[in-house]
This record gives sequence, structure tokens and C-alpha cells, in this order.
Amino acid sequence: MVKQVEFRYLWIYLSIGFLLSSTVVSEVPLGSKLSVEDNNFWVSSNGDFALGFYNSSPQSFQYSVGIHFNSNSIPANEQKVVWVAGAEIMVGNKSYFQLTQDGELILFDSLESTIAWSSKTSQLGVVSAVLHDDGNFILLNDKGDRVWQSFDSPSNTLLPGQKLPVFKTLRAQKVNSISSYYSLYMNESGQLQLRWETDVKYWTFGSVSNSNVSAVLTSNGALLLLNRNSKPIDSLFGEDHSETVKFRFLRLDTDGNLRMYSWREASASWISVWQAVDNQCNVFATCGDYGICFFNSSGLPDCMCPFKSDSATSPKCLLPYQQGCKSGSIMLSYEHTFLHGMYPVNDSVVLSSVQQCKDLCLKDPLCTAVTFTDDGSPECLFKTSRYITGYTDPSLSSISFVKKCSDPIAVDPNHPRTSPAPIPVDQSFRFCIPCLAGAASGTFITVLAIQLAVGFYIYKRRNWIWKRPALAYKDLYSKSLVAFSFMEIEELTGSFKHQIGPKMYKGMLPNRQPVAIKDVEATVAERKFRAAVSRVGSIHHKYLIKLEGYCCESIHRYLVYEYAKNGSLEKYIEDPELSKRLTWKKRLEVCLSVAKALSYLHSECREFISHGNLKCENIVLDENLDAKVSEFGLSIIHGEALSPDISAERDVEDFGKLVVALVSGCRDHRSVSEWAYNEMMVGQVEKVVDKRTKSEVSLEELNRVMRIAFWCLQGDERLRPSMGEVVKVLEGSLTVDPPPPPFCRERPLQEEESSRSGSES
Ligand SMILES: *[C@@H]1O[C@H](CO)[C@@H](O)[C@H](O)[C@H]1NC(C)=O
Ligand SMILES: *[C@@H]1O[C@H](CO)[C@@H](O)[C@H](O)[C@H]1NC(C)=O
Ligand SMILES: *[C@@H]1O[C@H](CO)[C@@H](O)[C@H](O)[C@H]1NC(C)=O
Repeated sequence: MVKQVEFRYLWIYLSIGFLLSSTVVSEVPLGSKLSVEDNNFWVSSNGDFALGFYNSSPQSFQYSVGIHFNSNSIPANEQKVVWVAGAEIMVGNKSYFQLTQDGELILFDSLESTIAWSSKTSQLGVVSAVLHDDGNFILLNDKGDRVWQSFDSPSNTLLPGQKLPVFKTLRAQKVNSISSYYSLYMNESGQLQLRWETDVKYWTFGSVSNSNVSAVLTSNGALLLLNRNSKPIDSLFGEDHSETVKFRFLRLDTDGNLRMYSWREASASWISVWQAVDNQCNVFATCGDYGICFFNSSGLPDCMCPFKSDSATSPKCLLPYQQGCKSGSIMLSYEHTFLHGMYPVNDSVVLSSVQQCKDLCLKDPLCTAVTFTDDGSPECLFKTSRYITGYTDPSLSSISFVKKCSDPIAVDPNHPRTSPAPIPVDQSFRFCIPCLAGAASGTFITVLAIQLAVGFYIYKRRNWIWKRPALAYKDLYSKSLVAFSFMEIEELTGSFKHQIGPKMYKGMLPNRQPVAIKDVEATVAERKFRAAVSRVGSIHHKYLIKLEGYCCESIHRYLVYEYAKNGSLEKYIEDPELSKRLTWKKRLEVCLSVAKALSYLHSECREFISHGNLKCENIVLDENLDAKVSEFGLSIIHGEALSPDISAERDVEDFGKLVVALVSGCRDHRSVSEWAYNEMMVGQVEKVVDKRTKSEVSLEELNRVMRIAFWCLQGDERLRPSMGEVVKVLEGSLTVDPPPPPFCRERPLQEEESSRSGSES
């Protein structure tokens, strides 16, 4: 008997030994390697989580490396990814992920033969790594301290026990080439915030009076805010709170909503047990700049664009209004609709009645749309942006008006097909039955309230006009061009004595104002040339050189530009002495000015205009070394109009080259780009900076600038950002992911397409 007992103990002992040894397997020794080809994984000891490559876009040969659920009880297609190395970097099918002998995690991309991401831990004495049972991948030093952990660099998901401390962010998976607009952020005062870009907070949790707060998801389905002593100070609960659920996670989804998910064994699926914003249409810009949110006949949120869209390939929802309509404008009305302008997002607010709100917009040349609301106090929300996002639903009491040019349109270059007629809003909601919780309720304002508001409104309106900031194009119609004779041009230039650039001469107007005169050598007919010049002459922007006049006489065609005292940017980059004056700050400013100018040409002027020949020679610097873009619109003058899409892409690419040149001080784009890209991706972006810049360089700014430059240089034009997005990134209000290698490779687009389904109506 005794012997038998001992034998049983021995057996138990052996099986414990076996378990221990499988725990040892989950420890990852230095030198270990995962690869796409071997399809191998590092698995947690309980088997619940695994770290390895996965196919990040199924139709392509692109992979990412990350941690996902691995439990037997979860079928493969539901094994959600909970952490990704390096902001969704995608790599080729011969890539590997390694814990090097130095103790650093590296992701090697076979397509570019570069290290696409690393944990930067080679100096921290790492001796081993382990994937914990809670899904946290940890690097340990010889004392057993955690020197790095995946929980500290969350992607879009929090697992139970994973803390989101102050300044940390969850970012929704991106749905286009630029980083996602949506983030969950723990602000310094202890408030958890869902944000769109950095401007709009559309959901918050917690008071703002605590410091050093962190958010944590508990294993029983609560989201807690913990103070510095890890005591809960605020909490919210999923609907299955305290039920036994094997797996849970909290994820910021691509639609901008934050959800808590639980694994249901019975249905073998993840179900959402809590979401931050009840009504999806109240997530700011949930339809992006692709339109207006509504609930479809199945009661699900959907997007539509009743307005003119950008083009077939990028269906951004643009308002139909164009500045400077000859036959005036009309206001289209959209009942039960709330609109937000996107760039900029901050609408001005005026108190008014419906009719006044509408008239106010009609009369103001900058206004593109208004939304009128009345929840006690009637407000007119005034928009100057052409990019619109919004929400429409029969339960909304707001009404919006959108300005439309009443000019007949023969050919609309932005929109080859006929623009969709405004959808009569009520009609599209005929089937909308389960109309939503959370939507504003109430009916239209009483006439009395409108009348009471009038007096006050007039007073406010005056103030408001007074305070409105001066805009770059305020003098849009105030100045006409001077037509010079050829003799006058000879006189102004002293018979072309001072050449300052290719076919460019310095001249002096009779009032002693210096000008730059370009011989355009165009063979275009006189009438066409005059028409083109007047079009170009009507473009005014702070960062565009002004066209002062022109000459069109027999065979002579000249353009007379504002003169910039410090000449071209090219000169400053070439000259070893002058280049020192281009400090880092100055270079950044130049990039931003040029980006703003292009953005203006592309999307904010009356009609799309490409630059067509952007390069350092065509950027000039005034007496304060402020940059202005010159020689724009020459394609109009030469009558060589490409399709807006192609020429916009070309400008974006040229902008990318310009940035690389300006940062590196080297004008040979080809020789420098690939090297610069690689330096950036291995974390040595500072090596790219022009050595002659003696000033302090901000690494954060530098990374941002170089990332966006390489997004602009993507071989696949579909991945390039718009100039508007570039401006946002340069200003720091839009984050930007590390770009894929830009060197002429086709990239798939499924991600982008899936996110837009339903948005093109
Ligand atoms: C690896 O990717 C390349 C394209 O980059 C593709 O041509 C090749 O077929 C892929 N190989 C495998 C085994 O999937
Ligand atoms: C945190 O956010 C709140 C609400 O937007 C704001 O009032 C507060 O100033 C923020 N705290 C800091 C330190 O920025
Ligand atoms: C915040 O709290 C954590 C513990 O929760 C502590 O380790 C850290 O030092 C604290 N930071 C500050 C700035 O108080």
C-alpha cells in the first residue's frame, strides 16, 4: 500500500515537472527567432496568448507581428490581435522577428532588407523574455526586473490588468494612409478622453482634479480609474460585470467607439458588453470626411454623402459651394441634420433665428454652411470649411443649410459624373424604425423665441464680425492686374539687365516697388492667355507670390510677380554660408508655408489649381526669410491641364522631394531619399539633417516631417496624403505613422476600401 502511494506521489511529481518544463518553453532565450516562413510562435504557458506573424491584409503578401488570442476554445478567425509591434508596420513574407543576442527585439523586413521596428533595449542588459499568461510580453534583465513590456506600448486594445497611465494613448487602427484620427487618451488631470485628432473630445470619463491616474480593465468586466495608490476613484461596468467570462478586452474600434468585449463560449463569438458612445452617430466624424451618419433600414449606422465628392477615388464629402459664383448662390436646406465643419472644426456661434442664420451664410462669402439649433437658446453654427461631417436623423431638431453656387456648370473637372442631387433627408429615413437613444429630442422653436433673440443677435453679430480673424485671402476681389506693354517691360527690367533665375528678371515699377518678371514664352493665343492670367491673378494667399501684372503683346508673354528680397530657396540650400541661416525652425516653417500654399491651391481656391512645377527654385524667401510659392498655375497659362487627380499627386510628390532636400540640404533627391528613409527607420533620423544647420533640432518634429515626406513620396499614389493632411501633420495636430518604404512598389488598398464601403452614395 505504502509503495503504491509513493508511486502516485511520484507520478504527480513528474507531471508537475512536466508542467514546469512547459513553462520554461514559454520563456524566450536570447537569439530566438520567429519568421513568416516557419510560421512559429512564442506561446504563453497557459496557451491563451501567442506572439507571431499574421497576415495583415489577406489579399497581399504583407505581414505584421503581434500578440493574439491563442486559446483552443477560440476558433482561429476569432483569435483577435491585441498588440502589434511598431504601429501596424507591414513587412514581406521572408521577414523575421528576433530577440537578438543584445536583448533587443527587432522586426526585419525582407522586402527592404531593413529593420522595420525595434524595442531599443540593447543597452538594458536583457537576458530573457517571456510571454505572460495575461498576454504581456516582457523583457527581463539578470535581476529579473522588467525592462520593457508590451503592456506599456498599447496599440488599440487593453487586456485585463493592463494599465493606461497618464499621457498614454490607445489608437484605433488606421483606415487610410495616415494614422487613425481616433484615440483614447489619459490626460494629465486624470480624465479619460476619446478624441478626434487633438481638437475634439467626444467622450470623457472621470473628473479632472486628480493627478497620476491610470485606467484599467478588470477581469470581471469593469473599467476603473485608479489613483496613484491604485485605489479606484471611478468605475463603469459592462453588462455582464462580475459574471464568469474567460476572456475580455477593451478596444478602440476603427469607428471611433470604445467597446468592452467578452468571449461567449455558447455562441463562440465576441460580444460587445459596453460601448462608450451609445449612439454611434454621436462619435465625431464617424463617417470621416466621407459624409453624414444615419441609421439605415436595419437600424445600423451608415454613411452617405449628399454633397459633391472630391473624386471617384477619394470620395471626400465636399460641399457644393465654390467661392465667387457669378450668378450668386442659393441655400439648400437639410432638415433634421447637424453638420460639423472639419478643417477647421471650430464653428463660430451666433445667436439668431432660422431665417437669419440662413441669410447670414448666404451673404458671407466665407460661409459654406450653417446649422441652426435651438435647445432653449437659438444658435447658428457657422462653417467656413468645405469638408463636412455630420449626423442626420428624424429625431434631431437642428436644421442645416448648405450653400450652392447657382452658376450653370458645363464641365466640372472635380466631378466627371453629375453630382448627386441632395437627398431629401426625410425620405432616406422612411424605414428608420428603432430611432436612437441618445439623440437630441424636441421639436422646432417657437416664433416667440426667435423674436426675442433678434435684438441680442444683432448685438452679438456685430461683435462677431469685428473679432473675426483676418484671412489670407481677404482681399480676394480688391485688386486687379496691371497690363504692361512690351516697351514698359523693357523699361522696368532695364532691358533685361538683371537676370535672377531661368527666364526671370528683376525689375522696378515706377513707384520703386521691385518686381520679378518671368518670360513665359507661351505660344498661347492672346484671349486664352488673358483669361488664364486673370484666373491666376485672382489667387491670393499669404504664402503664394502675388501676380501684379502681365504683358501680352504680339508674340510677347510676360508675368510680373511680387519680388521676394532674398531670392530662391535653391540659393539658400546651395550656398554654404546662406544655408546656415536656414535654422531648423526656419526649415520647418518653410515646409509648412509651402504645404499651406499647395493645400490652398488644391482645395480651398475657387477651383482646383495644380502647381505643376514645385521645386526649390520656385520657392522664394522674403525679407524675413518667410517662404512663398512662386510660378504656380503656369500649366493653366500654357494650357496643359492634366486631370486634377494626376496633377495633385504630382504636387504632393514634389512636395515630398522638396522636404527631403530642405531637411538634408542635398538637392539630389534620388541619391538621398533611400538612405534617409533607412536612417529614419532604424531610429537615426537625426543623421539626415543638413550638417550646416547649427541649430537645435527637435527629434519629434524631425520624425514627423520625414514621415510625412515619405508618405508623399509613396510609389503608389493612392497612399499619398492630401496637402490638407500634410498641413495637419506638420502643425502637429495629426499624428503620422511610419511610412512604408516609398520606393516604387505597389501597395494594396483593401483597408481603405473596406472602411469606405457605404460612404459613396
Ligand atoms: C512572397 O511575396 C512575393 C511578393 O512580394 C510573392 O510573389 C511570393 O509568391 C510570396 N511567396 C509566398 C510563399 O507566399
Ligand atoms: C484635461 O482635460 C480637461 C478637460 O478637457 C481640461 O480641462 C484639463 O485642463 C486637461 N488637463 C491638462 C493638464 O491638460
Ligand atoms: C504614479 O503612480 C505610480 C504607481 O501607481 C508610481 O510608480 C509613479 O512614480 C507615480 N508618478 C508620479 C509622477 O507620481
